[in-house]
Amino acid sequence: MTTNTSYAHHLAGLQREAEAALARTGHDALLIASGVEKYAFLDDRPYLFQPNPHFKHWLPLTNHPYSWIVIRAGHKPRVVYYQPDDYWHVPPSDPSGEWVDLVELVVISEPGDAVDHLKVPGKLAIIGEADAALGEFKPNNPPELLNLLHWRRAVKSGWELEQMRAASRRAVPGHVAAREAFLAGASEIEIHRAYLKATDHTDRDLPYTNIIGLNEHCAVLHYQYQDALRPSQSRSFLIDAGAQVNGYASDITRTWGRGKDADFEALLAAMESAQLALVDEVRNGVDYREIHLSTHRRVAAILGEQGIVKHMSPEAIVAEGISSTFFPHGIGHLLGLQVHDIGGFMAGETGGTLPKPEGHPFLRLTRPLQPGMVVTIEPGLYFIPTLLKKLRATSAASQVDWEKVDHLSRFGGIRIEDDVACREEGPPENLTRDAFAKVGAG
Ligand code: GLY
Ligand code: MN
Ligand code: MN
Repeated sequence: MTTNTSYAHHLAGLQREAEAALARTGHDALLIASGVEKYAFLDDRPYLFQPNPHFKHWLPLTNHPYSWIVIRAGHKPRVVYYQPDDYWHVPPSDPSGEWVDLVELVVISEPGDAVDHLKVPGKLAIIGEADAALGEFKPNNPPELLNLLHWRRAVKSGWELEQMRAASRRAVPGHVAAREAFLAGASEIEIHRAYLKATDHTDRDLPYTNIIGLNEHCAVLHYQYQDALRPSQSRSFLIDAGAQVNGYASDITRTWGRGKDADFEALLAAMESAQLALVDEVRNGVDYREIHLSTHRRVAAILGEQGIVKHMSPEAIVAEGISSTFFPHGIGHLLGLQVHDIGGFMAGETGGTLPKPEGHPFLRLTRPLQPGMVVTIEPGLYFIPTLLKKLRATSAASQVDWEKVDHLSRFGGIRIEDDVACREEGPPENLTRDAFAKVGAG
């Protein structure tokens, strides 16, 4: 049995933190339910299983409903592993992997059989969805305990960083293939298929639904469809797509043109430099809200430099709310077991909320950055018809070059998103750019 690997260290760290959290909150044991399958109304088809993120924090198991972990001070974690005798579906394979030797393993074939193995003395904290209740074992999700765990989860262990680097490396060939498909004139569905093939994922494996938009669709922040028809003219392409490794996500966006339209290419180049400068702002101790506000200043400067807004300083463009018309979302979020990982607004390990800057309702992270946190940096600049219509109705409308806006609207917009790990000192690690460099895709 190896106890000196990065996974063993990760598990030992979780055990230490859980023991401390149990002691501080007056509990004797922590039970974590992986979750249950949920069925469509009046149907016998289950939705895609989404495991409890607390469960996959401990174990690299993502397709394992009806399983449990029991954590107590001074004991190895007990894993109650559900492996049904099912000939309709492929049951989870026999337990295998490094984790097996580091836990006390119990295999069950009926969900109800878990009960006997959950009976541990004392006061229990049970983390799970309400549906996961099993007899007397009803999830109680004690907030004071969850706060301690959620606060800590933002900082990744060495093992977690390895999974997240691998998740970026898995997504990058998909991004490369998707761009090639775009350049070849493919439809959105064809591009999506090219992405899945190159990442060796199916839709079920993706950490979130791919966002694949051509032309004006690039302006829809979370564009949820994929056109089967090839557009007669394929001018621009925005892809926001990630991959998963052992339950950890990457979240990557790229925007491409065809190198033909000078205005759009200049805007792309300006956004690329701004994005890289913003990544460089990810430093130990920096308030992430400041990076968001810095994005507004940079977007405002670009709007001026590119002649989209005239005769206004970047400060005035921000103050008038014009930068929000073109950049209406947050600069990013915590990333990890969930694409929008939990704990982004916490004021401290015992809870509380750090507010979003006024007028910025969509920012998902307000905490100061700590070494080991992984965040996304995803500035955007879009031509969104409904927001432009509102801008047209303001007094600032006269400062906007609407001809230019109309021209650029045909390209939809731009977002560039990397996954970035904060370091103790110096510039951050850019998981995404490192992965692109590895496959020689720049
Ligand atoms: N893919 C969703 C996001 O970037 O937040
Ligand atoms: Mn994204
Ligand atoms: Mn994101």
